[in-house]
Amino acid sequence: MARILGISGSLRAKSYNTALLNAAVALQPAGTQIETASIRGIPLYDGDVEEREGIPASVSTLKKRIEQSDALLLVTPEYNNSIPGVFKNAIDWLTRPPSDVPRVWANRRIAIIGASPGGYGTILSQNAWLSVLRTLGTRPWFGGRLQVSHAAQVFNDQGDLVDEKIRTQLSAFLRGFAAFIEEK
Ligand code: FNR
Repeated sequence: MARILGISGSLRAKSYNTALLNAAVALQPAGTQIETASIRGIPLYDGDVEEREGIPASVSTLKKRIEQSDALLLVTPEYNNSIPGVFKNAIDWLTRPPSDVPRVWANRRIAIIGASPGGYGTILSQNAWLSVLRTLGTRPWFGGRLQVSHAAQVFNDQGDLVDEKIRTQLSAFLRGFAAFIEEK
């Protein structure tokens, strides 16, 4: 059973990206288990706090969950054509101390998807993540892409995925990613 940890990069209760992650859980392919994680509770990175108090418990807990997973699914919003600060901040904490990066990140299989109410579906934010993924030595999956645009029409008020075309695309994306995780 391939264990995928999905992390939504939004704190909003009615987040389209969290709704997309929940839809991924509902559509998880046979033989995979998608669990969800939130970045809520992770403080702003402060090197003085790190020196004084070490790694915050919220960060250590999430790091452990990443280590226990076979793969990561980052579900990213886009702010100002790039990565939202709250999401990048969380990942930055999750790369501390640097001596843990090989264990937590290196060769970790990883895929990125995202949703936005605009017409471009987080394409620039997804691209902006690439340099981070390379720096951390991850193994990104490039076999598929999912950029959910016009998200207000794709999800209903309860956060359910109501667009059949996106449902089909998300299913295909997840099947492709699951096959990549199973590859030696
Ligand atoms: C945005 N939004 C946005 N959307 C987009 O497609 N490209 C962009 O560059 C931006 N820029 C941007 C900047 C800031 C500061 C905010 C707050 C928002 C809109 C964004 O996609 C929208 O708020 C989404 O709903 C955010 O994702 P969640 O919270 O719904 O998951």
